[in-house]
Amino acid sequence: QARALTPPEISQRKGKAPLICLTAYTTPIAKLVDPHCDVVLVGDSVGMVLHGLATTLGVTLDMMIMHGQAVRRGLERALMVVDMPFGSYEESSEQAFRNAARLMAETGCAAVKLEGGEAMAGTIRFLTARGVPVMAHVGLTPQAVNAFGGYRVQGRGEDRERIRRDASAVAEAGAFAVVLEKVPEPLARRITEEIAIPTIGIGASSACDGQILVVDDMLGLFGDFRPKFVKRYAELGDAASAAIATYAQEVRERRFPAAEHVFGDMPKAVRGEKT
Ligand code: KIV
Ligand code: NA
Repeated sequence: QARALTPPEISQRKGKAPLICLTAYTTPIAKLVDPHCDVVLVGDSVGMVLHGLATTLGVTLDMMIMHGQAVRRGLERALMVVDMPFGSYEESSEQAFRNAARLMAETGCAAVKLEGGEAMAGTIRFLTARGVPVMAHVGLTPQAVNAFGGYRVQGRGEDRERIRRDASAVAEAGAFAVVLEKVPEPLARRITEEIAIPTIGIGASSACDGQILVVDDMLGLFGDFRPKFVKRYAELGDAASAAIATYAQEVRERRFPAAEHVFGDMPKAVRGEKT
């Protein structure tokens, strides 16, 4: 049985083969992604993707724990990282540690992710010094959607230097990797060259040390959400819709269930059928 990858092993991949990362929120999807991924993130995007929330702001620690436990049961090889939800870590380093410890103890994850750069550096230092490996997240940080006033590309103007400082600050504070979300390619390249830890890009070009996508987005399962940075590797939503329409039609016409789906009077063994 494969041993799971560790945060130091992920850090050491910088400058070597690209890090392959996806989100998962359930056991069956975790089983599908595990053989192909280095990192599986239980993202707070679960709130939008599976719970119909408009933003990630309403996601709770209990939701992250429940989805984390489900994902844990589906992983063998990938490093499991769980997002700290909005409101669970910003107040103080102590609050962050208390909730990170709950995530690790109750889900079995080996690391947590939190959003923020320079402002979170102290918290990242506090957590890493106490046995909690931290993946950071800078650039577009969706929990700050209200402060940003939307989900626009970050780092095209004066905020360029701020994002460079954020990435350096989280690296120096001890984060083992950092997600770079929705920033222009030159900035992503510059940061990747500047810092000692792997950059995991989403909407941040192939200059990053690794890539991550929301699995439901790349599978075409999540509605009409089609940002430029998501490549649709499948259209499972269309396939599911067609299958459901066919089922409805066959029930309407009494073509389903057919003979092979129906139980007779006698057990299969008596009829000589395979059981
Ligand atoms: O919540 C999430 O899915 C994320 C990734 C997109 C990085 O934070
Ligand atoms: Na997230």
